[in-house]
Parts: sequence; C-alpha cells; structure tokens
Amino acid sequence: MLCLTLTGTTLEEDFAQYERNRQWIKLVELRIDLLDESELSTASSFPDRVDVPVILTCRRISDGGNCGLPERQRLSLVRTVAAGHFAYVDIEDDVKKTEFEHELHERGIKIIRSYHDCQGMPADIYSRLSRMATKGDIPKIAVTPKTFMDVISLFRIEQELADVPEKIVIGMGDMGVPTRILYKRTGSFLTFCSDGRSISGAPGHLTPKMMSELYRADQVDKQTHIYGVIGNPVLHTASPMIHNPGFHAIRFNAIYVPFLVDSVRSFFKLAESLRIYGFSVTIPHKQDVLPYLGRITREVKQIGSCNTVVRIQNMWKGINTDYYGFLAPIQREIEQGRIHSALVIGAGGAARAVVWALHNHNIKVTIVNRSKEKAKALAEETMGGYDSLENICAYQGQVDLVVQTTSVGMAPDIDGDPAPDFRFIGSEIVYDLVYKPHETKFLARANAAGCRIQYGIDMLVQQGKLQFEAFTGYHYPQWASIYEME
Ligand code: ATR
Repeated sequence: MLCLTLTGTTLEEDFAQYERNRQWIKLVELRIDLLDESELSTASSFPDRVDVPVILTCRRISDGGNCGLPERQRLSLVRTVAAGHFAYVDIEDDVKKTEFEHELHERGIKIIRSYHDCQGMPADIYSRLSRMATKGDIPKIAVTPKTFMDVISLFRIEQELADVPEKIVIGMGDMGVPTRILYKRTGSFLTFCSDGRSISGAPGHLTPKMMSELYRADQVDKQTHIYGVIGNPVLHTASPMIHNPGFHAIRFNAIYVPFLVDSVRSFFKLAESLRIYGFSVTIPHKQDVLPYLGRITREVKQIGSCNTVVRIQNMWKGINTDYYGFLAPIQREIEQGRIHSALVIGAGGAARAVVWALHNHNIKVTIVNRSKEKAKALAEETMGGYDSLENICAYQGQVDLVVQTTSVGMAPDIDGDPAPDFRFIGSEIVYDLVYKPHETKFLARANAAGCRIQYGIDMLVQQGKLQFEAFTGYHYPQWASIYEME
C-alpha cells in the first residue's frame, strides 16, 4: 500500500495533495505537526473529507517533525484531534500507555507504535521491533541507514521478524531509497511517499506517481526479479526510466531500483540475499566490481571497467555495454569501411571504451588529451597515436571521425568547447558523448560546418537497451514508453 504523507500547512492544501494523488494511493497520513495552529481546531474532521483511511500523526521535532509542544500538551492535542474518524493513530514507542490508547482501541482505531532515528540506525532493531509488536500494536521503525550494511539489515527484517504480520519499515535518506521502493521485501505492509509539488525535486524523493507507474512498487511479489543500478551518486540516473517501462512492456515481473552503494562488497551480499538478477554499474564502481566477477567479456578485460553485471547460473558475469552502445550508431559506417582514422578527445574512463572499440575495428586512433601522459598511457595499450590537446589543430581535416569524450560542454557549462580553435572540414563524422545538452557547442559547430553529427543520447539509450537484453534475453521493446519524470 502506498501512503501519501500530507505536508501542507493548511487542511485545504492537504486536501489538494490528496486529490492530486488519489489515483495512486491507498491511505494518507495527516501530519498535524506541520499544520498552522489555526487549522488544528478543525483537523479532526479531515477523515470525513477523504475516501481513504487516514493516519493521525503529530511528529516531535526530535523525531524529524515540527511539533515543539511540551509532551503533555502534544499528547493532549493528539487525543483531541483523534476524536475524528481516523483509522490509525501514530504514537511514539517511548510514550507510556495511557487511558487514551484504551479509548482508541475501543473505537476500533489501530495504534502505530513508532520509533524514529533521523541520525542513524540502532543496533537492536530486530529486538526493538519485536518488543514493540508484543504491545499488540503495529510497530513502525523509521531509521536512517548510513552504510550499505544498514540497508542489508533493513532487508533482513522480513526474515528475522516473519512472525510479525503487520509492521512498517522505513529507511530514510538517500541510502534508504531501495527499502522504500522494495518495501514489501523488508516485510513492511506500506510505504510512505509525498506529493511532487510539495517537496522541490530532491533526488531520491519518491512521489506516488513514480512509485506506482514507474516502479509498480505495489505489484512486487515473491516472484519479482530484482534488478538495479549501483553508484555513488546514483539517484539522478535515467536507467530506471529505461528498464522499468521495458519490463512492463514485455510483461516481465521485474523491477529496476537505484542503490546508493558505499561498498561494492556489501552490495554483493545483498545481491545474494535478495537474489538480484543483474545490475548496472556507474561511477565510481565500474572497476571495483571486477574482483567479484566469475566471468568477464573480452571488452571488460581490455577496458578494465564493467558497467553491467548479470547472474548466469550461480556466477556473476561482467559485460561492458558502453562499448557496444558507442559503436551502434556508427556501426554502418564502420561496416562500409568509411572510417579508417579517428581522433579521440579525452583519455578518461569513457575514452577507454571508445578507443578500444575503434581499435578492435582496425581504426587508427589518435588520442588528444589535456594531460599528455594519460593520452600516452592509453595509446600505448591500444597501439595508437597521442598528443596533447593544445596541438589538436594539427589533426584538422586528417581524420574520418572525431569523438569528444570529456565532460567539457556538459550542462550546466553549456558554453564549454574542448577545442574552440579546431576547424571542421565537413566530411568527418563528429560524435559527442555528452548528452546534456542534446547538442553541445562542439557538435553545433560541426553541424554548421556540414559534418554528420552523432548525439550522445543515442549511445546512452543504446547501452541501456543492450543492458536490457543482457538482463532479460529479449530485445528492448519498441513500444515501451520511456518514462518521463514530472
Ligand atoms: P569519464 O569517465 O567521464 O571519462 P574521467 O575519467 O574523469 O571521466 O576523464 C575525464 C576526461 O575529461 C579526461 O580526459 C580529462 O582530461 P585530463 O586527463 O587532462 O584530466 C578531460 N577533461 C576534463 N575537464 C577538462 C577540461 N576542462 N578541458 C579538457 N579536458 C578535460
């Protein structure tokens, strides 16, 4: 079940949030600690205005909320507002059992017994949860995982506390995102999300629309195959927008989730316990995963980096779809023998895949880089030429293909051009790996000179589609609509 936390300062605002998200949610949480004081006298009638069950919560400042009242007054406020037709009332674990809880039980209102830790995670979460459950209430823990080992502990709750049928588990913060999307795999019976307009585009913040249309979090069951992307940072990645709609289009019971990972070793542990079937790898883990792989392709070995890991029987296999994603848009020209020589700008991680791909297709490569030493090292591995970026003009009109692999020109620095004095003659193909903006300044200049240009977004989409094939064994469905975030 998806629960929408209402974050308005007025009941009207809360009602508007409810209406905007009604189609995706099963219940709402009314946070009276966020309401203006003048709203409190009518808050008890809120459940009558909506047609879903309502949780009443008055969160203290020390628990990440906004209520600064002395404890007795706070509880008295909860008691007054709870006179309304609420389905649940949230009462903190350290609050002593009072008469009023008895009243709530008699009225058929369930108590959510909650524990919050906004700074980290207590070592005793399992015993804490089971002790809370013995009070006959629904235990809720909302904690902040600080390491990936903490994330593993949250996913183990399902096994450790299998005998507690109704519980709520929330991993807060960026590292907790997978526990909120895969809430069913923590054993939680609901997860919280919030309205897109009320919290300005923070990464990792999950709206009801994303939870239900992009991730289909409510449809996860025991059979669902879990995939994901690991990185740090990772929450900005577009990959969930490629894979989840693809799975849905081929009716494959699978989900693709972003994992903010500080330790690759810990992630492999989780991958075993959750039986993750495959994952994408992004910065800074593309080399770190190598020691854990039982098999790697020739490209991974050559490039020394892996962006895709799949479970084959009981072994992890590493592949590099950046390599093929780069080649796909220029494959025809290569097959037709129209590219004999290439100039590659940059000698970083992205350049390695490009240079090896071209080298393996018998294309003579010259690498130009700001730091000549790095260009030299890569050129020596691939038996190519190298030079310093400042000498790039010496190669004007000399090559069939120019590939720009540095981050220069990438948003927000959209006026950047790695080689502003370099002139195009019009017959060369010019490829920029930067995909934001769609057309960089470098590509715009090449276009104006009459060159065939190749956008970075095509490589991104191609490498994603190849990952999809590696994950599922199916071509990426043409009819999948790549999801657009609001
Ligand atoms: P990636 O994995 O995206 O390739 P990287 O491995 O950090 O990232 O490599 C960045 C590349 O962009 C390098 O070739 C870098 O040049 P140096 O090796 O001299 O650092 C290049 N680069 C980054 N900023 C640049 C700039 N302002 N001008 C020219 N080249 C730049």
